[in-house]
Amino acid sequence: MSTFKIAIDGPAGAGKSTIAKRAAKELKFVYIDTGAMYRAIGLAAIRAGVDPNGDIAGVEALLDGIKIDIAHSEAGQQVFLNGEDVSTEIRLPEVSVAASDVSKIPAVRSKLLDLQRSIAEKTDVIMDGRDIGTVVLPNADLKIFLTASVEDRAMRRYKELCEKGIECNFDDVKKDMEYRDKNDSEREIAPLKPAEDAVFVDTTGNTLEESVAAILQIMKERKEK
Ligand code: DC
Repeated sequence: MSTFKIAIDGPAGAGKSTIAKRAAKELKFVYIDTGAMYRAIGLAAIRAGVDPNGDIAGVEALLDGIKIDIAHSEAGQQVFLNGEDVSTEIRLPEVSVAASDVSKIPAVRSKLLDLQRSIAEKTDVIMDGRDIGTVVLPNADLKIFLTASVEDRAMRRYKELCEKGIECNFDDVKKDMEYRDKNDSEREIAPLKPAEDAVFVDTTGNTLEESVAAILQIMKERKEK
């Protein structure tokens, strides 16, 4: 039986995960948040006292001892680091930055690439990240590149963190986002960039509802073709 794959890429805070989650529910697809996997490795580095940015050998040495598992529940995707549910902890701002830092390391990317492809193989999926349309699922049936201005994205992320009760201020959130945009787009392997055949969607100024509706429409049209 053939499966249908949707890739959603774009910078942090563009609304990828919210939109992908909603779309997966409507289409009855499995939703895979690949950023959570990089976050789990970033968290493992922080916990081990290894500098995620400067100590490449230190991060590499941790990799064999890191087992990441993904599960799905009503609340969304859960991520387990060596059996421990870290789904909440990986959302902390310092883990966002660590995730972006470890994602530049080739051994980290190759470990996660295998995991991502093995999950996507068996089922209809919507997978979100930075390199899904370009590297992980280059033959995806639909590729979407979702973006928005850095102000809009930082404001969305700031509100999300406040809602979760995580202490932060807008300027720091915006600075982290700019740091990650630069890191993620300028790294040598699998940088953030739109696939040539991606549908480009700019959500600046849209409500989330408007963005979800626009993307669901694109998905439904493609699926019915
Ligand atoms: O999607 P996110 O913000 O949770 O991702 C956290 C970091 O992980 C992001 O700054 C870069 C990295 N990442 C990546 O390099 N490739 C992916 N497919 C997903 C995330």
